Formats: sequence, C-alpha cells, structure tokens
Amino acid sequence: MNKLQRTLIIVKPDALQRNLLGRIITRFEEKGLKIAGMKMGYLSDDLLDQHYAHHMDKPFFNDLKKFMKSSPVVFLVLEGIEVIDTVRLIVGPTKGRIADSGSIRGDFSMSTSNNIVHASDSLETAEKEIARFFKPDELFDYRKDDWNWVYASDELD
Ligand code: CMP
Repeated sequence: MNKLQRTLIIVKPDALQRNLLGRIITRFEEKGLKIAGMKMGYLSDDLLDQHYAHHMDKPFFNDLKKFMKSSPVVFLVLEGIEVIDTVRLIVGPTKGRIADSGSIRGDFSMSTSNNIVHASDSLETAEKEIARFFKPDELFDYRKDDWNWVYASDELD
C-alpha cells in the first residue's frame, strides 16, 4: 500500500505582496494534491524561533525573522502519496535564482531569503511543523473525487 503523507507549506510575505498566492495554490491543486488545511496569520517571535531553531546561529537569522513577520503568511497542509518529495520538487531549491524553470521558486523568485514558500523537508519535520501551526480540528479528512483519476486504483488501496 502507498503511504499517504501530509506536508506543511508557508506562503511567505513576498508571495502575498507580489499577488502570487492564487497561482501558488493553483500549482498544488493542478498537480493533484489535496488541501487538508489552510489559514492566514502572522508569525510570532516564539513560533519563528521554534520553526527556524536550526538557523538560530546563522548570520541571516534576524533578517529572516523580520522578513517572515513583515506581513501575514498563508499556511497550507497538503496531502498525497509521497507528497513531501513531490512538493520539494514543485517548490525547487532554496536559492530562487538557480532553481529550475517550472518550479515555484524557479519561476517566481531571485532570492535565497525571499523565496516565496517554505516546504517541510522530511516526514519527521512535516509532522512537527503541521502540529506547530495547526490544531487537529483545523485539518480536514475528506474524500477527493478526482483522486480516482489522479491515481490508479491500486495506488489508492
Ligand atoms: P525556508 O525553506 O523557509 O527555510 C529556511 C529559510 O531561511 C529559507 O527558506 C530562506 O528563506 C532562508 N535562508 C536560507 N539560507 C539563507 C541565506 N544564505 N541567506 C538568507 N536567507 C536564507
């Protein structure tokens, strides 16, 4: 059986300011991913310290926090088979100016910091990040009818 996974996306302030939110969500929808959660909000210092704890000693940490707090962000939880790797491919590498054309960062960003979206990098991280930003009742388990066409029947068993 193929394992369904969930991953966390943060649509960053640069994407909202540049009117890219709809196009980003469309890319995930068109790929065949299910939106299991979605909300908008400001990131607090506390949440950013947790979320970017592994970058705390980096020279860009304070600027990164300032950037992430500069406007509201949009949080998405996306679901699909092996969705963590799928989303990493759709998003592209950190530095937008060397990301492949066709990826979100490749098409919409030139920066290493202002790189449009954050995406969880592993199953373990995704579980922690989803729990950090979503309460259980903010996540939705529902039947997505087009999955009968997105996947082959044996993939959904
Ligand atoms: P993200 O996927 O959210 O994970 C960590 C973030 O830190 C990254 O995207 C960038 O926004 C930022 N970042 C990573 N490396 C650098 C860097 N060298 N200079 C500035 N910002 C960075």
